[in-house]
Amino acid sequence: MNLILSIESSCDDSSIALTDIDTLEVIEHLKISQEKQHQEYGGVVPELASRLHAVALPNLLEKLKPYFKQIKAVAVTTHPGLSVSLHEGVIMAKAISTFLQVPIIGVNHLKGHIYSAFIEKEAIAPILALLVSGGHTQIIRVHNYKKMEILASTIDDSVGEAYDKVAKMLNLGYPGGPIIEQMALKGDENRFSFPVPLQNSKQIAFSLSGLKNAVRLQIEKLGEEITSQDKCDIAASFQKAVLAHLLQKSKKIFKSDTTKDFVIVGGVSANKYINEGFKKLCKEFDKKMHSVKLEYTSDNAVMIARWAIEAYKNNEFDKIESISVKPSKKLASGSYL
Ligand code: KG4
Ligand code: ZN
Repeated sequence: MNLILSIESSCDDSSIALTDIDTLEVIEHLKISQEKQHQEYGGVVPELASRLHAVALPNLLEKLKPYFKQIKAVAVTTHPGLSVSLHEGVIMAKAISTFLQVPIIGVNHLKGHIYSAFIEKEAIAPILALLVSGGHTQIIRVHNYKKMEILASTIDDSVGEAYDKVAKMLNLGYPGGPIIEQMALKGDENRFSFPVPLQNSKQIAFSLSGLKNAVRLQIEKLGEEITSQDKCDIAASFQKAVLAHLLQKSKKIFKSDTTKDFVIVGGVSANKYINEGFKKLCKEFDKKMHSVKLEYTSDNAVMIARWAIEAYKNNEFDKIESISVKPSKKLASGSYL
């Protein structure tokens, strides 16, 4: 077997995978989530994350020893993400590359998320992707594995961040997305009419901070008397406004973009309510909606390998001395990933 070893440590998941370069088969996928350790802080603490990666990554690598001779390249996330966390993965990837004398491939985490749609499958291009994660909210036109054009971006918070903050305001724990989705199932989405962001603006962009503040004001209004049913109703009404916003802005792009294929990627793509809304929109615009396997919606090393296999097949490698953590840049609409 010709294997690629991949490492992902951009945030609070330590993940290592082995993928067969020729068949695209996932041979091993190991992951240690730090959710519990960050829970008491209501969000990710970078210093703690990096210390936990430093312990978890070598432990995971140890399990892959029997495969070392079959590894032909090592891929690692270099950006965007928490720099102290990314460093842990990059240092390990450099050591493996040197020790095994195999090439190294630096991977953009966002391109990895997009390629999560093609795990154990051939890639499709062009394709439109809605990337909704803890750090990003973007609509991207994927021309090919290297050329990815941002068509719309958030001007403030990301969708995942908004879910996490609303959950924190309701004292529901971290990460907030899955908890809010579950609470919303028991709630009345029409009880509170939260404003749909940028509803009357022609701008093709996303914004979540105004909605988040509207939710905060409502929680303050309910005060200490807030009941568990109130929380479910807030979760459902919030989610309704988020979906309406995502659909409204995506519709503007769908109207002029003839790309046939569409996919939602990133942590928030695990959300069934959002997926259902987009299924209907794709039907209306005659687009084929693809989906990511649930286990690959959140951060994982398999998606990093999947993108890196494209680079490997095109003989695109990085120089070990120049590979390093890249600073995270805010990319505006019209720029390329
Ligand atoms: O892609 P991801 O694992 O990490 C980043 O690259 O940021 O995304 C994590 C985000 C978190 O904000 C989490 O609350 C959100 O994805 N998330 C969800 C759901 N599952 C995870 N948001 C809404 N509904 C979900 N079911
Ligand atoms: Zn991610």
